[in-house]
Amino acid sequence: MASLSSAHVRGGNSSLLEFPKLRRSNYGRTSVSRVGFRVFASQAKQEPDLSVTVNGLHMPNPFVIGSGPPGTNYTVMKRAFDEGWGAVIAKTVSLDASKVVNVTPRYARLRAGGTNGSAKGEIIGWQNIELISDRPLETMLKEFKQLKKEYPDRILIASIMEEYDRGAWEELIDRVEESGVDALELNFSCPHGMPERRMGAAVGQDCALVEEVCGWVNAKAIVPVWAKMTPNITDITQPARIALRTGCEGVAAINTIMSVMGINLTSLRPEPCVEGYSTPGGYSCKAVHPIALGKVMNIAQMMKSEFADKDCSLSGIGGVETGGDAAEFILLGANTVQVCTGVMMHGYGLVKKLSEELKDFMRKHNFTSIEDFRGVSLPYFTTHTDLVHRQREAIKQRKAIRLGLQSDKDWTGDGFVEETESMVSNQ
Ligand SMILES: Cc1cc2nc3c(=O)[nH]c(=O)nc-3n(C[C@H](O)[C@H](O)[C@H](O)COP(=O)(O)O)c2cc1C
Repeated sequence: MASLSSAHVRGGNSSLLEFPKLRRSNYGRTSVSRVGFRVFASQAKQEPDLSVTVNGLHMPNPFVIGSGPPGTNYTVMKRAFDEGWGAVIAKTVSLDASKVVNVTPRYARLRAGGTNGSAKGEIIGWQNIELISDRPLETMLKEFKQLKKEYPDRILIASIMEEYDRGAWEELIDRVEESGVDALELNFSCPHGMPERRMGAAVGQDCALVEEVCGWVNAKAIVPVWAKMTPNITDITQPARIALRTGCEGVAAINTIMSVMGINLTSLRPEPCVEGYSTPGGYSCKAVHPIALGKVMNIAQMMKSEFADKDCSLSGIGGVETGGDAAEFILLGANTVQVCTGVMMHGYGLVKKLSEELKDFMRKHNFTSIEDFRGVSLPYFTTHTDLVHRQREAIKQRKAIRLGLQSDKDWTGDGFVEETESMVSNQ
């Protein structure tokens, strides 16, 4: 993903920090790096540039509307473009919307500090048992066409899902591409409802199916294809690797986490309760952010070691509500960051706050572009055994520094200056 060299970056506490700086190859594409420059806060007062180009798609910022209610029809997608989102991924479509039957209620929320059923406290978790789009495909396609007519320079991505049938996938790709969308996201990850029809997570949890379906899709699709991964699997890198090997340009992670939101302690029925019954749903929002970071870190490491020579992209998703949340995904190697529940809670204007906060973070570290810090934190993950080794070594060194040289016989002459230094009091 990136090779490291060192540059000096002034940290928030105004001290000069030795900080790894990227010499980016962008999985093969060379681009200008600032390696060799010593970057000081007093220099390079350039305003941070949030724009990104991912798989050839240019976006004004890395903030992408994640597939779901915020991309469900023309009006809301238009709103997203008007507010300044970098790209919009529409609600997942399939060939026959008449097979998609939703229920109400279909959401349940978890609040911080609240006891069972409490209406107080900040919302930190969100469960849905919503299916993919129940609007006719023809209607959705007309709206995609209209949006691309009005916003030709903005990125519109169709999320698609079909049954285990090559012909169906091919027909869907043909029709969706004809509407003028810029890319496709394959929903291999919806955890409820669709697996019963061998769709969504039923594909994403079965590497053989991922390979076969990606093979069909990539033999057909002309626009870039991202495969959206389910976290409901032991090793998320396995389907991600297969998706990239079979020709997908990118992977996106994560979709929602399979969950049971709670049991109503009065009625003794599970939530959300539909005619007295429920079904496990998908968990999202702030509570899933650390899990999403973990999965994105796993995928990023795999991509760095196996796909560094290719122009493959990674889209981080899960619990983003601040520019800092987004920065974390990018620091792990994500090219873009998707937001779904955050938009449902805070509205489309959230992108302005996200952009300002991400710019503040970049100013603090003197980063002028997203590529300046993409993947920078990834090399700092290691094994627990290595942590133990590093800590032992560090303690040994700290002890040695504190003690200075044990006796006159320890002077070597080679490290004479350092040895002298170690004898000086640190006060
Ligand atoms: C109500 C709701 C509906 C969703 N519908 C879809 C969908 O149709 N297709 C899809 O790929 N993901 C869908 N998702 C998943 C989101 O795109 C996203 O992957 C997940 O919610 C985690 O991100 P978040 O915490 O920003 O919401 C849905 C999420 C929610 C909350």
